[in-house]
Order: sequence, then structure tokens, then C-alpha cells
Amino acid sequence: MLRRVLLSAAGSDRIKAAVVRAPFSRGVVNRFVAGDHVDDAIVASRQLVAHGLLVSIDRLGEATTDAAQAQATTDAYVALLKTIADAGLAEFAEVSLKLSSLGQALDVDGEQIALDHARTVCAAATAANTTVTLDMEDHTTTDATLAALHALRVDFPGVGAVLQAYLRRTEGDCRDLAGDGSRIRLCKGAYREPASVAYQDRADVDLSYVRCLRVLMHGSGYPMVATHDPRLVAIAAAMALQAGRERGEYEYQMLFGVRPDEQRRLASKGEKIRVYLPYGTQWYPYLTRRLAERPANVAFFLRAVTTKG
Ligand code: FDA
Repeated sequence: MLRRVLLSAAGSDRIKAAVVRAPFSRGVVNRFVAGDHVDDAIVASRQLVAHGLLVSIDRLGEATTDAAQAQATTDAYVALLKTIADAGLAEFAEVSLKLSSLGQALDVDGEQIALDHARTVCAAATAANTTVTLDMEDHTTTDATLAALHALRVDFPGVGAVLQAYLRRTEGDCRDLAGDGSRIRLCKGAYREPASVAYQDRADVDLSYVRCLRVLMHGSGYPMVATHDPRLVAIAAAMALQAGRERGEYEYQMLFGVRPDEQRRLASKGEKIRVYLPYGTQWYPYLTRRLAERPANVAFFLRAVTTKG
């Protein structure tokens, strides 16, 4: 219930304005976001790499309905990838990309425009000697994002994608995408979705995650286990063993600011672990999803809408 309230707040301009203005917002944002600028992402990446962690850098922004903005985001990703290479971080850092930030939601030819922009970003990643993973957004975009993944992999076979265990379709998508060279980041799912397409009960989502993970671990692709859930982390370790996978033939992934001690613990055990590291000024929808994962944080929103900033 609280999760639904918080995810609804993501779409409210009034609440957004109040939260962005609220004096205490910055502290909360700083927990989950590296900073406003690409340099902040590079500094944070270096700190994580120094602790034995890998990173996937995300430039915040989504659901653009402005073609010029989609082009600007593409240019920013190309510049980010050059910065990663110049900083000597390509071995440790890839990028995560939302197709809606590249124009997927534009009224005319949005999917084609986003695909063309994504090709440009993938070419820049190849030149920088690193990879791209496509984030997965709400279920109305799943087919288009998977179609883009297939098209991109023809020329850029290293492109990966996120699948969300809360969607009823995902076990089937895992079967389709468990083959050679496929990189799948499996997460639970962070959007507000109807019961017709998504499991609503947390236990059902967890069971789906386990079924999906089994398919990926026993396939020939590269599973990326994106969860902070201690039970699922333990199950992933057991499944990897059972499937005959060595360390490095799969990886764990967690969000910047969430369970950092666990991130370092896994790294210190020799596990491959990557931190999803967002930066940029468009943090509001991302922050809303992070707060919705901890309903205790509803107090944050209540303070934001009742405090004059
Ligand atoms: P769960 O929510 O059950 O949390 C397990 C435990 O982790 C909690 O009890 C708490 O201790 C801790 N925790 C989790 N979230 C927290 C938070 N925000 N603040 C503090 N503690 C927290 N989703 C999506 O729809 N599309 C996508 O592309 C991605 N991409 C993505 C990449 C990576 C690398 C990760 C780790 C996650 C995503 N997600 C995502 C988000 C994902 O769907 C999910 O919402 C969160 O990971 C939370 O789910 P958990 O699996 O961690 O379990």
C-alpha cells in the first residue's frame, strides 16, 4: 500500500516540486546518487573500484518527450564513455541506459529514434572498450526494449538488458535470453504494475526470481544477480555452484548507497560485484523508486509536502 502511494508520487508535479525544494532532500539524494556531474561519478567510481567493486554508471533522466533532449542525452553518454576510457576505468566501469531517455516515448518514431541513439552509445562503448546494459522500465515498454536489445546485439553482441522478476512473462523471457553471450541483469522490479501483468505479493515475486535465476544460471549466458535480498544472494551462490559456475562466470549487482557493507563483504570474498551508480540532476523519479523500496521512508514525503523549502 505505502509502496503504491510512493510510486504514485513519482507522477505528481506538486509533490515533485515540494521534494526537490525541500531543504533536507539533498542529504537523502546524496545517499543514492553520486552527484550532479560526470566528475562526481568518476570520483565515486574510483572509490568503489579501490574497494574491489565494479560499477555501472547511469546518467539520470527518463521518459523524455523532447527530441532535442534525447539527442542531448545521447551526446552526454558518448562524452561519459570517453571520460571513462580517459580515466582508465573501462576495465571496471560500464554504463546503464534507459531507452526512454533516448526518445522511446516520443510520439512519432520514438522507438526507432531511441534505437538509433542507442546504436550511437553502443558504438562509443565499443570504442571505449566497455559495455552497455539496457535498464527495463514499466511493462508497456518491455517488448520495445527487448526488440531493441535483439537489434543492437547484431552489431554489439555484448549489450545486456534488465529483466524484472515481478512480471509474469519474465521466466519465458529468461528462457529466450539464457543463450551464449547474453548478459541479463535480473532484478525484482521497481515500477507500479497491475496484477494482470505482475505478481503483487512479495513472496510470489521472490519465487519468480528464484525460477528466473535458475534458468539463467543453467543457461550459457552471463547472469547478473541484481538484488540486496540476503536470501536471494545466498540462493544465487548455491545455484551457481550447482550449475557448475565458477566465480566470475556470474556477478552480483547492488545499488549505490544500499547495503554498502554487504557489497564490500562480497568483494572481499572474491565475488564479482558491480554497483549501479547514478549521477545527474534528474534524480526525482529514481529517488522515488528507492524510497518506495523502504516504505518507512514515507515520512520523507510527508515532511517534504508540509515543509516550506
Ligand atoms: P527487497 O526490496 O526485498 O530488499 C531486500 C533488502 O535490501 C531490504 O530488506 C533492505 O535491507 C535492502 N534494500 C532494498 N532496497 C533498498 C532501498 N532502496 N533503500 C534501503 N535499503 C534497501 N528495477 C527495475 O524495474 N528496472 C531496472 O532496470 C532496475 N535496475 C536495477 C539495477 C540494479 C543493479 C539493482 C540492484 C536494482 C535494479 N532495479 C531495477 C531495482 C529492483 O527492481 C528493486 O526495486 C530493488 O533492487 C529492491 O529489490 P531487492 O531485490 O533489493 O529486494
